[in-house]
Amino acid sequence: MRILSGIQPSGSMHIGNYLGAVRQWVTSQNPEAFYCIVDLHALTLQIEPDKLREQTIDYLASLLAAGLDPDVCTLFIQSQVPYHAQMNWLLECVATYGELSRMTQFKEKASRQEGYRVGLLTYPVLMAGDILLYSAEQVPVGQDQRQHLELTREIAERFNNRYGEVFTVPEGVQPVASARVMDLQDPSRKMSKSLASPMGLIYLFDDASQIEKKIKKAVTDTDNEVRFDWDKKPGLSNLLEMFASFSGETPPQVAERYSRYGDLKKDLSELVISSLAPIQQRYRELRADEGALRALAAQGAEKASEVAGPLYRRAAVAMGL
Ligand code: TYM
Repeated sequence: MRILSGIQPSGSMHIGNYLGAVRQWVTSQNPEAFYCIVDLHALTLQIEPDKLREQTIDYLASLLAAGLDPDVCTLFIQSQVPYHAQMNWLLECVATYGELSRMTQFKEKASRQEGYRVGLLTYPVLMAGDILLYSAEQVPVGQDQRQHLELTREIAERFNNRYGEVFTVPEGVQPVASARVMDLQDPSRKMSKSLASPMGLIYLFDDASQIEKKIKKAVTDTDNEVRFDWDKKPGLSNLLEMFASFSGETPPQVAERYSRYGDLKKDLSELVISSLAPIQQRYRELRADEGALRALAAQGAEKASEVAGPLYRRAAVAMGL
């Protein structure tokens, strides 16, 4: 199965990224799967150059620690495969201003800052290129990327109709639970790197006491009845869903075992801590050898280019270049 997905190396990776996306990448990895750290995307917001470089390698180590195996799949850094930036231009001449300006994420992010960059508007086109360069059939992502996936499908279909069949029209794949992990302090909004409220996010590399504190302080309602109900009990349902994702149960099954919020929170903390501990341990080992990580990225970029290069050329020729 041809798969592609990506993650931005901005901020620290949190359990929304892990449960919504990265864990699916690990279970679906195969020789036809491509996963990239999208450093070009990270330029849409202000980030110090040295920090971006460092975080890109941090993310590479994190993805390996989470279970991606470069002997099984292809793991690479987006900017090391120049076809992504090149394909972006071709597709900017297929996508329309109207459809890009209607993207929810663009509207949200643009409303929070003055003088936002053009890249913030055109970002979904770059993302569409990431996917289409690899003829991906499936794209494992969290729910917040659904709209971008729909746009990718539209761009692919429009291109194929206008210039001939070049692109595979991809499908988004979401996890059964935790496709949208919510902020622990404000369960009406998703857990997000760009809206960092430190107590609302659990980072992949939080230590045991931080995880315990954040879950203990997570906002719930006051009627103290453990029931899975997103409408009436969003805070609690978020915790139940998180629990279920880690334990392999369904949220109602978890809810059935508890009558008190405190007990649920205590067990959830232990579960999260013990699930993340081996990843944290592997991360420390891997991150210590930066030379090995860079070599691995170079190999990944080479493998990715072998697929992306020919596809880029087909698209360019089809358009008349
Ligand atoms: P990014 O870096 O914001 O997030 C990476 C992945 O994590 C998922 N995710 C979540 N899932 C559940 N709950 C949450 N609170 C949560 N927050 C984030 C995202 O859905 C995503 O799957 N534009 C993308 C990166 C990208 C990409 C691509 C993805 C670039 N090119 C091509 C797929 C295919 C992004 O900014 O994800």
